[in-house]
Amino acid sequence: PSHPLVLFMPSGKRGRFPVGTSVLDAARQLGVYVESVCGGRATCGRCQVFVQEGHFAKHGISSAQDHLSPFGPKEERYDRVRGLPEGRRLSCSTQILGDLVIDVPQDTVVNAQVVRKAADERVFERNPAVRMCYVEVEEPDMHKPLGDLDRLLEALKRDWQFERLDIDVHLLPKVQKILRQREWKVTAAVHHDRAADSARVIALYPGLKNEAYGIACDIGSTTIAMHLSSLLSGRTVASAGTSNPQIRFGEDLMSRVSYVMMNPDGREAMTAAVRDALNGLIDKVCEQGGVSRTDILDSVFVGNPIMHHLFLGIDPTELGGAPFALAVSGAVELKSSDIGLPMNEGTRTYVLPCIAGHVGADAAAATLSEGPHRQDEMMLLVDIGTNAEIVLGNAARVVAASSPTGPAFEGAEISAGQRAAPGAIERVRIDPVSLEPRFRIIGVEQWSDEPGFAEAATATGITGICGSAIIEVVAEMFLAGIISEDGVIDGALAARSHRILQNGRTFSYLLHDGEPRITVTQNDIRAIQLAKAALYAGVKLLMDKQGVDHVDRIGLAGAFGTFIDPKYAMVLGLIPDCDLEKVKAVGNAAGTGARMCLLNRDYRREIEDTVRRIEKIETALEPKFQEHFVAAMALPNKVDHFPQLS
Ligand code: FES
Repeated sequence: PSHPLVLFMPSGKRGRFPVGTSVLDAARQLGVYVESVCGGRATCGRCQVFVQEGHFAKHGISSAQDHLSPFGPKEERYDRVRGLPEGRRLSCSTQILGDLVIDVPQDTVVNAQVVRKAADERVFERNPAVRMCYVEVEEPDMHKPLGDLDRLLEALKRDWQFERLDIDVHLLPKVQKILRQREWKVTAAVHHDRAADSARVIALYPGLKNEAYGIACDIGSTTIAMHLSSLLSGRTVASAGTSNPQIRFGEDLMSRVSYVMMNPDGREAMTAAVRDALNGLIDKVCEQGGVSRTDILDSVFVGNPIMHHLFLGIDPTELGGAPFALAVSGAVELKSSDIGLPMNEGTRTYVLPCIAGHVGADAAAATLSEGPHRQDEMMLLVDIGTNAEIVLGNAARVVAASSPTGPAFEGAEISAGQRAAPGAIERVRIDPVSLEPRFRIIGVEQWSDEPGFAEAATATGITGICGSAIIEVVAEMFLAGIISEDGVIDGALAARSHRILQNGRTFSYLLHDGEPRITVTQNDIRAIQLAKAALYAGVKLLMDKQGVDHVDRIGLAGAFGTFIDPKYAMVLGLIPDCDLEKVKAVGNAAGTGARMCLLNRDYRREIEDTVRRIEKIETALEPKFQEHFVAAMALPNKVDHFPQLS
């Protein structure tokens, strides 16, 4: 046929093109992202594709190697110098001769598994905000007075089809020298502004510059995690994390806000602390990845509203009380050097939008990653910290709220609670007849009733209960009948088990009879009840808003979500009834969302549009919150049923 059919995988986009069209052009016309730095000169090697051979009945295509033009001199030269992997072709230098099924290699897609899974099986295509564009600029001519810079911009517009193109001022004094360094051949790093049709040159390099990097970062109130990725191949080349140094000003968010309110330089000190930590992390990922700091050209940050404000140098005082006004809720785009993160002079920073005064850019990023707004099923997304950020919705409508769970789930208000560390109890089972417990501690393979446990545990000791296990202990106590539906430890059981101890007017449960003694007290159980009731009441409000009495799917984000067993969370009524198969830990979904925005600017628009549509519910103002809270104090709940548990 004179217009062969070309199908691109894995996106499935297809079209007919005249014989002789280059594969790269065909991809461009269909909006299939294939990287190219040299602009089709067969020197960068970024545009590689692969031809699938065979008869594809479903698509009505027979595809074979000879439906592409044979190796030409340019491809041969590239292959000789740089080497092309078996079967790969340079799409810029290959013409279409017949029907084709073309594979755009997915090894160039970063962490394809992670991102794809997180993005709900969608193929994760790249389209970074910063592109590297090689051009050959016309030399100056006495008869044409056009300036060097103007000829550079013209060449870029012509070869790379920019409608409007500008340049960062810091480059003005350097343009002439860079152009002359390699005979008028340069690579421009071009940043696409959020307004779709305008772009700016943010860095300029002599000759062909075939690499550029970006960082994606989740600023948590406890930990900060950063990933360094190649903007060209999409590969993640290094990852690092550190604890948030703001902890020294206050453990939880509200104490950090009060620190700002009480200390004249409090805001400055906390902003400096987080930026120092970020600069340290940038050095770390650069060292790990063998990348120069100046080669980082783009960056994306997410965080809860208070972290978001402090990172940007904004006073978070207004977030400390009603009406919880954000200084800025929309996405922010600026130069990294303006916020004390020097990398390349032109490096850009993108910060995702915040959903509400208590529901931040981290929740927005998690939403982008898990995609409730992209599916028909009603999905609940929960991220538990000292505040639980809750998102509930589907393609039709998304609502969000936060709930003041307090730090009990992190083991804070629990008498024997501790951070996850060797020696901490992480799993518990209680025999419903004898009321005897067995448990496992971090750092030891065996359960406490298995041979070899005692010897193995001498190294670490048995030190406390780690945050994620608190849920399990209380749920097991409930299942064994030690605590009632109201959460009261049954003192009558003291008559038949030495595990039930009396202290004053209440009782406690002896989990480990040794040094130190580890008990679960009535107060501990109250703290868990209060936290879980707050969480559940928030979820319930959102379910009311959606008019549903059950959810189809639950994603538990963050460290807490990774470690708790969904069954126990449901036994205690932390989360609403749901098919247990469909309750999943989604890991650091916020970090994944940040990375998606780094590698594909279309996701920036998607989350900005979505956040604008999300309805924010202020739990404190909802009269029904109290009612739901009281019902949720019971185990698992006074009024709601959990058919999946029976
Ligand atoms: Fe650079 Fe094909 S676009 S080698």
